[in-house]
Amino acid sequence: MKSSLQLVNRILQRKSHNPDVSEASWQTRIRARSTVDAALTRFDSHPTLAALRMLTAAADRFGIGNPFFKVHEGAGGPVTRIGGNEYLNFSHYNYLGLNGHPEVNRAAEEAIKRYGTSVGASRLVAGERPVQRELETALADVYGVDDCVAFVSGHATNVSVISTLFGPRDLILHDSLIHNSVLEGIRLSGATRRSFPHNDLDALDALLAALRTQYERALIVVEGLYSMDGDLPDLPALVDIKQRHGAFLMLDEAHSLGVLGATGRGIAEHCGVSGKDVDIWMGTLSKTLAGCGGYIAGSRDLVDILKFAAPGFVYSVGLAPPLAAASLAALRIMLREPERVLRLRERGTLFLDLARKESLDVGSSWGFSVIPVILGSSRKAITMSNRLFEQGINVQPIIHPAVEEKSARLRFFLSAMHSEDDIRHACFTLARLVHGKEAHDDQE
Ligand SMILES: Cc1ncc(COP(=O)(O)O)c(C=O)c1O
Repeated sequence: MKSSLQLVNRILQRKSHNPDVSEASWQTRIRARSTVDAALTRFDSHPTLAALRMLTAAADRFGIGNPFFKVHEGAGGPVTRIGGNEYLNFSHYNYLGLNGHPEVNRAAEEAIKRYGTSVGASRLVAGERPVQRELETALADVYGVDDCVAFVSGHATNVSVISTLFGPRDLILHDSLIHNSVLEGIRLSGATRRSFPHNDLDALDALLAALRTQYERALIVVEGLYSMDGDLPDLPALVDIKQRHGAFLMLDEAHSLGVLGATGRGIAEHCGVSGKDVDIWMGTLSKTLAGCGGYIAGSRDLVDILKFAAPGFVYSVGLAPPLAAASLAALRIMLREPERVLRLRERGTLFLDLARKESLDVGSSWGFSVIPVILGSSRKAITMSNRLFEQGINVQPIIHPAVEEKSARLRFFLSAMHSEDDIRHACFTLARLVHGKEAHDDQE
């Protein structure tokens, strides 16, 4: 299984579509040929499909079922229904339990009654719906900045915004664990990309000292709370670094809004930093805010540029009114009921303490909404996920290439709606499986 995975990754990392042909001889062959190979006109010979088929065949051979794409039969809170059975659920980003909240549902229903389900075109063409601006203004207030603009996808927000603001003469530095959407945005921008080791701000400082003056603009991109590891960057130190080197700072708050700070306003509140000290606040509507979409908050100039030039805004449909209304309602509940944020933190601390007592490897997690349990191989992570599922607990494995093979893990997303008993049950069941007889059966 391990060697199958390595082969799959080698195939996926190849630029050439034929893994057996070197880049140089591939170029020669391409120039020499007079007809198009029929295999290149179909998807059945696509290398990604080959890698996928190899992975599923290996999983079948080792009898480890596919833990992905389970069908949930309801909203999916701390408990979810799959195949007619109820499972304790740790696979949703429903951090404050607001997806399916009656007030959030009602807001979405009223928006549907008034505006329908779609605005039908880009906001430049189809115009505004008041609820879109209300959401943007409320989000700008969260950060204490001038304005905000919402996009229809969190992923597309990062891709579109980074590639609009930065170009080939610029330098972008990012944490090594940064989300794929940021990497895609950097790739599209054509800027020079440098990664620094996870949360190593001395390395970032050194990179800027060595490189900054060779470029026009420089951008530092980090996450407010890392979605694989559940740890945070040192925001005051980042602000100091960006000011000393004349760089922009972008914070992706996908997993920190609703989670960090006494009222869930995110990492700025957690660290006591002014929202204005960060140039680009990015977040998603799909997690705490129970919707779908992304946003950028910052100066008026920043928002003006994006509304005029970001392709993901200009050439994409405006945020659907029911989603804008749902996220606005969720944001209002978050601000009104800080006890949800506190309860989430208490559950996270309990999980972390119990897991450590049970000698489970929770890596560098701070015990907020995301807690990994590192198992050391993709096979173990998949097997444990399936075993837990058999015991009524739904938690997803994170396997290579999403993380290094030796860091393959189960990733628990906690919710303010999990009870203490839910947390205890999950930790003890996992510890029994990891340290018990069943776990030894899986040793490679
Ligand atoms: C850090 C981070 N940024 C951006 C995104 C993309 O957000 P969305 O899923 O809302 O498109 C995600 C998704 O999980 C994420 O974890």
